[in-house]
Amino acid sequence: MNNSEQAPVTVRPATLDDAPHVAALATQLGYPTTRDEIPARLAAVAADPHHTVQVAECRSDVVGWIHVYVRKTLARDGDAEIGGLIVDESYRGRGIGKRLVEQALAWARQKGCHTVIVRSNVVREDTAQFYLGLGFETIKRQAVFRRALDNHQGKLKTDDSRPNADG
Ligand SMILES: CC(C)(COP(=O)(O)OP(=O)(O)OC[C@H]1O[C@@H](n2cnc3c(N)ncnc32)[C@H](O)[C@@H]1OP(=O)(O)O)[C@@H](O)C(=O)NCCC(=O)NCCS
Repeated sequence: MNNSEQAPVTVRPATLDDAPHVAALATQLGYPTTRDEIPARLAAVAADPHHTVQVAECRSDVVGWIHVYVRKTLARDGDAEIGGLIVDESYRGRGIGKRLVEQALAWARQKGCHTVIVRSNVVREDTAQFYLGLGFETIKRQAVFRRALDNHQGKLKTDDSRPNADG
């Protein structure tokens, strides 16, 4: 990816053509992902009005993405949740992350949500500062548990539990 300081950045919905860049950025986020895994996930998102993936594009390169979805549980509704956000390392500090979050907030508003939540690994102290600066507040700290299902024993991506992985 070329870092062009002056080149304009646009934010738009992801397309299947973005799969290679989306996969590379997911890997940078801490979730090793191949380009072959992304098209089915993007297609599922495109078919579901409760999800959106927006990408930041600069000179035909995807340099960031955000996934946000309407989160409904039995106990609560009205929340949207940011499922993932990443800006390419060489494009950080240019306002791209902020634009992606603002786009997610606008989308959530349009969907009738009244709050947007995001879970961020506590080891990402910089990321906490980023969200606090955008008007988010810390509401709680949680432990995250996982149990493999019997038919998938040994197939979990161990990197999901790396301390620097998101979520
Ligand atoms: C967090 C992340 C998305 C921020 O993207 P970015 O494009 O560099 O952020 P922006 O340039 O839009 O910054 C927006 C504001 O946040 C502030 N900010 C950004 N990174 C910051 C940091 N590390 N510490 C403190 N403030 C920060 C900026 O100063 C800016 O403030 P301003 O509007 O007052 O000028 C990016 O650093 C990233 O991809 N990090 C790794 C992955 C990650 O943590 N994802 C989120 C997981 S939930």
